[in-house]
Amino acid sequence: MKIQVIEGHLAEHKAEAAVFVYFEGEALPVGAASFLDERLGGQIQDTIGLGDFKGKCNEICVAYTHDGFPVKRIVSVGLGKRADFSTERLRGAFAKAAQHIRAIHVKEFSTTLAFDDLKISPETAAEGVVEGVILGLYQYLPFKTVDRKDEQQISSFKIFINKGNLKTVRAAVKRAEIIANAVNFARDLVSAPGNELTPTELANAARANLKGKNIRVSVLNEAKMRKLGMNALLGVAGGSQQPPAMIVAEYRGGKKSETPLALVGKGITFDSGGISIKPSENMDRMKTDMAGGAAVIAAIRAASELSLPLNLVGIVPATENLPGGKAYKPGDILRSLSGQTIEVVNTDAEGRVILADALTYASRFKPAAIIDLATLTGACIVALGDEVIGMMGTDDELKCQIREAAALTGEKVWELPLGEQYDELIKSDVADYKNSGGRNGGAITAATFLGKFVEGCKWVHLDIAGPSWFEKAKPYIPRGASGIGVRLLVQLLRNMIPEKR
Ligand code: BES
Ligand code: MN
Ligand code: ZN
Repeated sequence: MKIQVIEGHLAEHKAEAAVFVYFEGEALPVGAASFLDERLGGQIQDTIGLGDFKGKCNEICVAYTHDGFPVKRIVSVGLGKRADFSTERLRGAFAKAAQHIRAIHVKEFSTTLAFDDLKISPETAAEGVVEGVILGLYQYLPFKTVDRKDEQQISSFKIFINKGNLKTVRAAVKRAEIIANAVNFARDLVSAPGNELTPTELANAARANLKGKNIRVSVLNEAKMRKLGMNALLGVAGGSQQPPAMIVAEYRGGKKSETPLALVGKGITFDSGGISIKPSENMDRMKTDMAGGAAVIAAIRAASELSLPLNLVGIVPATENLPGGKAYKPGDILRSLSGQTIEVVNTDAEGRVILADALTYASRFKPAAIIDLATLTGACIVALGDEVIGMMGTDDELKCQIREAAALTGEKVWELPLGEQYDELIKSDVADYKNSGGRNGGAITAATFLGKFVEGCKWVHLDIAGPSWFEKAKPYIPRGASGIGVRLLVQLLRNMIPEKR
């Protein structure tokens, strides 16, 4: 889809459809669109007058023009009450409008961003609109061969703006395209089935997508891991015929001397549970157990495309978790990269085991902080529901920054506590720790375990087990892989640099 920003009046350009947004209970669309209704002879006001369109959140109404009006269809979409307006509403409304336009097989549309009466800048509005459209139109189609929906793609979206903001709005649109496309890239990785997206293929996808400027991708293979002593990761990988991979992506956008921020993402390309095998119902969902890794790879891609002036190191431990003759077993004890030992009491608690080595490895880069993202526990879903990220960590400032970023992107984050009392629950009789602390406080004991492998730096853990996959669609998150965490990370990085971008 080609997105263009044009200075001028929408109604003076031919288009198949144009989107206008309305506040609930207001007779005219937001911004400078009253001229439009005048030219349509009050048609839209009449529709509102009849009560057929109220401007409720994401409500849609299509009006058809005549008499040679250059725009064939007027797609009105509701934003809800003016007092409740947010960029999030704008994202949702434009996602719904774009989905509607695609559903009626229209291939191009336009809109106007003459939002003088809104409390957000034209740049922020443009970012929200473009994100909403690109994210809302996402579909995962590589395996669809019949009833192909991809023949109905929208090919062009034109944004008309008032004079004077062309350069900055164009830059904002470019940023939004980079970020939304990175989210959709993460969604593609998460949607990809386990037979296609093996650890090796995840590494290949990282190489292929990060080969741009200032990034070096290296992949530690099994032999290298053995040499280094990554026996926790190798333990989990034991049951799989697919070789594991430790993906390391270093982005250098900042000064050489600047310490990097480390991003670590769980990369289980399929989680059967291993010997402690999961029930078969919904086991297919476990192809998404690399959503944390996907978010890390996608965020680094976006950071480099945005040329963010900072240094990053992304680390994604990737393996399958399968049962088999060489699989790790309950009762096994693994000697991790850190030297600390792990008693395996449940092979289905594999995420924390591979992350143990990844966090120790990340610590060796002496990062300013480590943020890890992982589809780590069902317990986090029990605690917070399907849509909220569980946040735990050792640094209040970083947690606060993450909360601020999440408030801007619309991703929902809630903190769960850490504390000494949880140490008891992961103590092992025979090793330093056991890999499960039981049912109670499961998200917290998992995080407590992870914390044992962070060496001397700030650390925040984000449990994305719930929101990595949306069973029910949201306006700009179609059912399925959400790409959660990508926008959050990119916003956090943007907020960290002095001149906000
Ligand atoms: N990948 C799962 C967690 C998960 C569950 C992610 C549902 C997404 C949706 C993880 O590896 C796991 O199996 N965790 C166990 C831990 C338990 C055995 C201590 C869990 O949450 O049941
Ligand atoms: Mn598991
Ligand atoms: Zn898992």
